[in-house]
Amino acid sequence: STQYLDADPAGIAAAADLLRQGLLVAFPTETVYGLGGDARNGEAVAAIYAAKGRPSFNPLIAHVASVEAAKRYVEWSDNAEQLAAAFWPGPLTLVLPLRAGHGVSSLVTAGLETLAVRVPAHPTARALLSAVDGPVAAPSANPSGRISPTTAAHVRAGLDGRIAAVLDDGPCSVGLESTIVGLAGSPALLRPGGVALEQIETVLGTRLAHHKPGDLLTAPGQLLSHYAPDAPVRLNATERRGDELLLGFGSVDCDRNLSARGDLIEAAANLFAYLHELDGTGRPIAVSPIPSEGVGAAINDRLRRAAAPRNS
Ligand code: TXA
Ligand code: MG
Repeated sequence: STQYLDADPAGIAAAADLLRQGLLVAFPTETVYGLGGDARNGEAVAAIYAAKGRPSFNPLIAHVASVEAAKRYVEWSDNAEQLAAAFWPGPLTLVLPLRAGHGVSSLVTAGLETLAVRVPAHPTARALLSAVDGPVAAPSANPSGRISPTTAAHVRAGLDGRIAAVLDDGPCSVGLESTIVGLAGSPALLRPGGVALEQIETVLGTRLAHHKPGDLLTAPGQLLSHYAPDAPVRLNATERRGDELLLGFGSVDCDRNLSARGDLIEAAANLFAYLHELDGTGRPIAVSPIPSEGVGAAINDRLRRAAAPRNS
């Protein structure tokens, strides 16, 4: 059965031991809870895919404690240096060419020649990664295709009994997954996320190549239907229809408001928790229009996937 560990030094040490033994531990990051396994241990990584029911072609992010640690696994570059200096630790993932002798299981990269790496900012994640002293592969800690977890209770609801432990440190502050930037070729936005595109372009002094909103395969395995509640989701709603509950934004009369003062950062932090909560009622969900600037682009990306026709 799954152990629930407090995020104190003893809990973090216990979680690190479990990871070193090749077992799976869900842990908090500032974006969402991750489902961690030792990235150098193929069996541990295979167990991540199995616990999530994740298609094996969808590669994972390797989490490390520092820039120095990242450089052990990937070919570093000037662009990587600039972005890491500006946004690490934090909600940014860089995709870079694998370095010779990297030791990372090919199940992490799904056979690609590149590796996605991230240094999270959450103090508990950082303490855990320092204690493990190796790359930890971690997708979001939810069954594949479902709403991402921003609390330990969300992890429990999706994965209880299927993983060794959950390190519980309350809700995640950013609430949306990391922004993914590809640096193996010309810089490209592979997934919008917690760091706004505009901020990244300012640091690099160049525009990123990116795909139109709604393009599917910007990072492998970004299936359109994703983050899917059980209930149908209708976007850009200005009022409730029928039995719908309204997930609002700004000054609207609604059932849950992502941010009554119209703050996109607050809305991002609330998005997945409110989707989980409204989904629990079994009623259809309507969502107010959300502006697409800054982190709003990532919110709308997740909402489009939540509203997309289901794969199954
Ligand atoms: O905020 C986050 O990034 C969270 C926390 C736990 O760190 N993790 C997360 O992982 O969102 P996941 O597995 O749900 O999403 C990883 C994304 C996938 O869309 C995958 O296709 C992409 O990263 N990815 C991983 N490796 C890649 C690579 N080598 N090239 C391109 N895309 C890659
Ligand atoms: Mg995910």
